[in-house]
Amino acid sequence: MSAQYSRLKGFADIYGAQLKRFTLLEDMARQTFFRYGFEELRTPILEPTALFLRSIGEQTDVVQKEMFTFSDRKGRSMTMRPEATAGVMRAAIEENLVRQGQVSRFFSIGPMFRYERPQKGRMRQFHQINCECLGSDSPYADADLICMLMDFLHHVGLKKLKLKINSLGCKKCRPAYMEKLQDFLRATPAQSLCGDCLTRREANPLRVLDCKQPGCREVCAKAPKLLDHACADCKSHMELVLTLLEKAGIAAEIDASLVRGLDYYMRTTFEVVSNEIGAQTAVAGGGRYDGLVAQLGGPDIPGVGFACGMERLALLLNEAEPAPLDFFLLVPDASERQQGFQLLVNLRKQGFSGEMNFGDAGFKSLMRQANRSGARSVLIFGPDEAAQGSIAIKNLATGEQINAPLDALPAALARVLGK
Ligand code: HAM
Repeated sequence: MSAQYSRLKGFADIYGAQLKRFTLLEDMARQTFFRYGFEELRTPILEPTALFLRSIGEQTDVVQKEMFTFSDRKGRSMTMRPEATAGVMRAAIEENLVRQGQVSRFFSIGPMFRYERPQKGRMRQFHQINCECLGSDSPYADADLICMLMDFLHHVGLKKLKLKINSLGCKKCRPAYMEKLQDFLRATPAQSLCGDCLTRREANPLRVLDCKQPGCREVCAKAPKLLDHACADCKSHMELVLTLLEKAGIAAEIDASLVRGLDYYMRTTFEVVSNEIGAQTAVAGGGRYDGLVAQLGGPDIPGVGFACGMERLALLLNEAEPAPLDFFLLVPDASERQQGFQLLVNLRKQGFSGEMNFGDAGFKSLMRQANRSGARSVLIFGPDEAAQGSIAIKNLATGEQINAPLDALPAALARVLGK
C-alpha cells in the first residue's frame, strides 16, 4: 500500500522487534535503577526555550542548530526538549524535589528532539534513558553512577563497550585553561579551522575541542589539555573517581578530547562508546554539572548524570524477534464461531497467546491467514469437530497434528507446543 502521508524525516514508527528491544531496555533500566535508589520522573516534552538556552548554553550546536523551536499562539518561544537534564532540573526546583545536604536520584525515559542529519543511530526524534543524581559533589557519587550505567549495559547484554572519561575542571581552574586554549587557537592559522570553529574560538573555545571536522580535530590533537592545567581539587577528584572505578572492576580510558557538547559540565565527563555502530559512536554520555541548579534559580546543589540513546543501544542488541503467538484458531463456519470465541477466551485465560478468524472465508484462505499470523500452531474447529466435541491441533513447525477432546484442549495444546 502506498501511503498518502509519510512520517517526517528522522522520525520513526516503533513496532515489532524494535519495540521489543525498547521495552526490554526500559524494563532492564527500571530494574537496575531501582536497586540504586533512583525514582522515576516524567517531565513535559515542551519547555520554554529559555530553559535550554540557559542550561545547555547558547554557543552549543544543540542550541544553535538542532532545536525544534517555535512560537505558540501567544508568541511565546517553546522548544521540544533536545535532552532531559534541563527539564529534570527545572522540575526538581519547581516541585521542591531536592534539598541541600540530601541526595536525590531521578531517572526519566522518553523521546528527545534534535534537528540533526539523520543516519544510522541518529534520529531527529530519538529516545533517552536519563539518570540524574543530585545533592553530592563527592567522587563517590560519580563512581556510583558510572557503576550503575555499566551494570545496566551489562544486564542488557552489551559487553564490548569502552568507557572514556575526562575532567573539565572547575570555576577555579577552567578560566586560566580557557585562556591558554584560546591563545593556542588564535595562534592557529584561520584556514586550519572550520567556519564554525573560527566563531567558537572567540565565543566558547572549549567547543572547538568537540568539533568533528577532520582539520579541527588535527589542530585539537596538539591543543593544551585541561587535565594538565586542572587545580589540585579537580585532580584529586578525578583520581578518586578512577580509583573507585578500578575497585569496582570497571576499565576506564582517559580521553583529553572528551569535552561533551553541552555547556553545563564541570569536572567529570564520560562517554560509553561502541565501534559496532560506526567509529566510536557514543551510546551513553554524561558528567558532573555542579552549579547548574543554582544557575536555573534553585539552591546550589551539585549533580552528576548521564543519558543513554535507546536507538543506539537497540542497534547493539541481538535481533529480538517478538515472541510468536501460540495458536491461530481457525473456525471456518459461522455456526461454530460463538463456541470458538469461548475457546479463544478460555485459552487466553489459561495464559496462551492467540487469535481467531472473525469472518467467513474458504479453508485454504484461512490456513494462509494462520500461517501469516506467525502462530506456532493452528487449531481447527469445524462442524465435524464440534459434533464430536473435539478440536484439531496442528504444530505449524513440525506438521504434527492431533485431535483432542475440547475439555482437554489446554493440556493438549501445551503438549504440542512443548510448554
Ligand atoms: P548527549 O551526549 O547529548 O547527553 O546524549 C546522550 C546520548 O543520547 C548519546 O550518547 C546518544 O547515545 C544519544 N543521542 C544523542 N543524540 C541522538 C540522536 N540524534 N539520535 C539518536 N541518539 C542520540 C545528554 O543529552 C545529556 N543530557 C546527558 C546527561 C544527563 N548529562 C548529565 N545528565
